[in-house]
Amino acid sequence: MLKVIVLISGRGSNLKSLIDQAANYQITHVVSDYADASGQDYAREANIPFSGFSRQAYSSKKEHRQAIYSLIRELDFDYIVLAGFMQILPADFVQEYHNRIINIHPSLLPLLPGLNTHQRAIAENYKTHGCTVHFVNEDIDAGARIAAAEVQVKEDDTAETLAERVLKREHSLYPWVINNLAQKNFKIQASTVTYSEQMQQDAKQANFLLNC
Ligand code: GRF
Repeated sequence: MLKVIVLISGRGSNLKSLIDQAANYQITHVVSDYADASGQDYAREANIPFSGFSRQAYSSKKEHRQAIYSLIRELDFDYIVLAGFMQILPADFVQEYHNRIINIHPSLLPLLPGLNTHQRAIAENYKTHGCTVHFVNEDIDAGARIAAAEVQVKEDDTAETLAERVLKREHSLYPWVINNLAQKNFKIQASTVTYSEQMQQDAKQANFLLNC
């Protein structure tokens, strides 16, 4: 079984979908930069160890960050899965875990990196929006893309209604990618992701985009 740890900052709805749909991987630990992240309840219900780091418990932002990344370095895992983790990872940490950190972002990357993606998609009159799972590199939301799911923007969408439909797709896309990772159905070489025949067929059926 592939061992993954999941990093969250808040709600944890992606964590929940990763827990519920774990077929080929095991979540060995959940870590948060907020001790009160509500998503921790999902970890507790599933008997997954949770470590939350309250900023107030540390005298500086630097110490807070150091505590988080020191703990992670001690954990036993194959991959780090970011699910709504709002910190920018330290560059040395990203290098240390090269190609072993995966993130989900609520837009069709490379469009709309950064925050408030749903609002921006509406403001910029996008007809199509969605979510992307990608490897994490030193640049924000810029690592090699693994898979994406599209969502059509409706005339009367608000950021909230659009976010809701994108989130629904996130909840099937993310566990699907991690299950495929565990089955070695794709690999990354020199920033290029290649896929097994099986994964390409499954993507078509589930309406997910590869080589995006
Ligand atoms: C999701 O929209 C995800 O794409 C983004 O942060 C949000 C996290 O939501 N990275 P949740 O905490 O998983 O509910």
